[in-house]
Amino acid sequence: MSDRTTPIPAIIDCDTGVDDALALLFAVRHPGLDLRAVTCVAGNTDVDGVVRNTLTVLEQAGAPDIPVARGAERPLLEPARSAQHVHGQDGMGNLGLPVPARAPADVDAVTLLRREILASPRPVTLIPTAPLTNIALLLRTHPEVTRNIERIVFMGGAVATGNATPVAEFNVWHDPEAAAVMLTAGVPVTMYGLDVFMKVVVPGQEVRRLRTSSEPGTRLAGELLARLPFTDAAGDDDPAGGLGDAGAVCAVADPAGITTQLLPVEVCLSPGPARGQTLVDRRMNSREYEPGVRAAERALVDVAMHVDVERYVDLYLKTVESGAECRSTF
Ligand code: BDR
Ligand code: CA
Repeated sequence: MSDRTTPIPAIIDCDTGVDDALALLFAVRHPGLDLRAVTCVAGNTDVDGVVRNTLTVLEQAGAPDIPVARGAERPLLEPARSAQHVHGQDGMGNLGLPVPARAPADVDAVTLLRREILASPRPVTLIPTAPLTNIALLLRTHPEVTRNIERIVFMGGAVATGNATPVAEFNVWHDPEAAAVMLTAGVPVTMYGLDVFMKVVVPGQEVRRLRTSSEPGTRLAGELLARLPFTDAAGDDDPAGGLGDAGAVCAVADPAGITTQLLPVEVCLSPGPARGQTLVDRRMNSREYEPGVRAAERALVDVAMHVDVERYVDLYLKTVESGAECRSTF
């Protein structure tokens, strides 16, 4: 999809967030991506914390000019429920990062999304790595944007096991109605769900190398990876770290690294233990069993079923470690 002369115009909608920060560091350093804006939504932490973290990460990455806008401070229906137990009080693993030097854009997230999507000379790829509240508000407020959206590659959902609940993944669970709006908007959607998200882990020795880098963005990537360990060894000097949301950005830069299946996907909106579950229909010929409107209404989504772990770990390390020189030397 990308070639060396025409980077993919992309916008990340995030809730930075340790692994959202990993995604931003990758996106600004990959020469096949043209990150045109970043929009923020409540999720891992409150939206003001998300804005602060996002601005800081972009500054550390040497990309202080990308516009950043504040979005929804709570889901469409429910109160915000942060994931500070995973991402720390500051949403950034309590790393004690500096406060950013600049302020966000003076427009809200939906306005910035609309502006950047319609201004792009080529259709934009949206990469939500957070609850889908901003995206749903955008699609309902300015449906004309769909004409210049290439596709949406979102981190969220799960074919198998959830994390926020036994069956629901955090981003979809946090705002199920918003996820349903996005899935049924008529835009091609790729679901980078927990099934692949959990698999892409950077080995401890590579994390240690990043942490000792003299380049601030690379060093930050190492510190963030060490905050999302995938080992049980408490006190381990060399914790491995999952790429998390950054895997969804890898899937845009290098789509051949995932294997997808086009499947009907529906979000469970009912109250109760299944709320927020993505029901991915893997039955053969399921429509034979559910004829009529309901089956036809379910969105067909490209669901990531497998990921080439080594390929994405290599891609991530190569991209982030290429640092500030990335765009000219990759
Ligand atoms: C998702 O939830 C958040 O905690 C992560 O940043 C990721 O986007 C995983 O369920
Ligand atoms: Ca996230």
